[in-house]
Amino acid sequence: MILVTGGAGFIGSNFVLAAVAAGESVVNLDKLGYAGHLESLAALEGNPRHVFVKGDICDRALVRKLLAQHQPRALVHFAAESHVDRSIHGPGEFVQTNVVGTFSLLEEARAYPGKNFRFLNVSTDEVFGSLTETDPAFTEKTPYAPNSPYSASKAAADHLVRAYHHTYGLPTLISNCSNNYGPLQLPEKLIPLLIHNALAGKALPVYGDGKNVRDWLYVEDHCKALSAVLERGAPGETYNIGGNSEKTNLEVVEAVCSLLDELKPRAGGRYRDLVTHVKDRPGHDRRYAIDSSKIQRELGWKPAESFASGLKKTVQWYLANADWVKKVTSGTYADWVKKNYAARS
Ligand code: NAD
Ligand code: DAU
Repeated sequence: MILVTGGAGFIGSNFVLAAVAAGESVVNLDKLGYAGHLESLAALEGNPRHVFVKGDICDRALVRKLLAQHQPRALVHFAAESHVDRSIHGPGEFVQTNVVGTFSLLEEARAYPGKNFRFLNVSTDEVFGSLTETDPAFTEKTPYAPNSPYSASKAAADHLVRAYHHTYGLPTLISNCSNNYGPLQLPEKLIPLLIHNALAGKALPVYGDGKNVRDWLYVEDHCKALSAVLERGAPGETYNIGGNSEKTNLEVVEAVCSLLDELKPRAGGRYRDLVTHVKDRPGHDRRYAIDSSKIQRELGWKPAESFASGLKKTVQWYLANADWVKKVTSGTYADWVKKNYAARS
């Protein structure tokens, strides 16, 4: 039995689906904020190996109760405010969930007497800051230099996790991963946003000159890496996870448009005609790149998908799952987009 937080979000739901399919039992704690959707877990309805609990990770009494009741062998912590743009509009919630929420979990985990218990904190490469074109990729030894309220809150959480291992001996693990893409990602992040807008004939918004570089990893590969860290990682260690697949945003846009041209041609034009350069994100990090040689060497993990194969699967998934997209882009999500992005669409 493992306790997962944020298992109704993008990576969390992919992880929970894979874990249950592999025979694991999961208690899934998620507050079902704008990014959490039970629709993503529909395949687990009625499955006794998945217990869903709607609640906040900041609710320490609830976390304590779940640990006592289910006696999990591990806690895998995904729950977070995860979108950089939202952290610029409203950083408060990021500090609350990402810092105070992680602190709450650590405190309860410290008091939990579970045998051989492990606490895996799912973090990001953004804590390392921004690289120039010629800098070497981030390693586990790269100093933290977060630039957005999102990455600063994730960095703060990582520091707390590290301190709880060092000071209290809590068996913690930290993973720092690059940009994920794949099924079940809310279309506020670049790749699903491009697919969603293109199919709706809307502008494809590219921030600034579009030459910012990200390293892209297919979400199922990330989930496999997390399992490797959880089962075989050494307590107190951190592991960088990446796809070895650096792309400029313009390259990503071009790849998505080409796939859509092939799989669902646009009546009356090419998808790339929809590309629109818009005002840059404030403090926009120029480049991220991950050196994942440690996890490859020590835990034997490497990505199975290339960017081309993962992106094709992703576009095909979105074409086949229009109902899911419709559900998750309605309600509070739609209201926020209307209010904050009105100028660009
Ligand atoms: P997401 O925004 O899709 O999902 C976050 C989930 O956490 C949602 O289901 C939400 O309801 C839940 N949640 C938020 N606040 C909560 C709270 N206070 N209590 C309980 N549940 C809460 O995020 P994601 O993209 O799946 O990212 C998951 C984790 O992985 C995050 O910690 C993120 O920092 C990290 N990460 C993401 C990426 C990426 O590319 N998406 C890359 C590296 C690391
Ligand atoms: O690197 C890991 C991080 O990747 C995770 O920790 C974050 O949770 C996740 O959101 C992601 O952060 P990014 O800011 O890199 O992802 P996003 O999809 O928002 O943006 C990717 C790039 O695309 C970035 O350079 C900004 C640009 N962009 C994004 C959007 C939403 C655009 O040009 N236009 C857009 O509309």
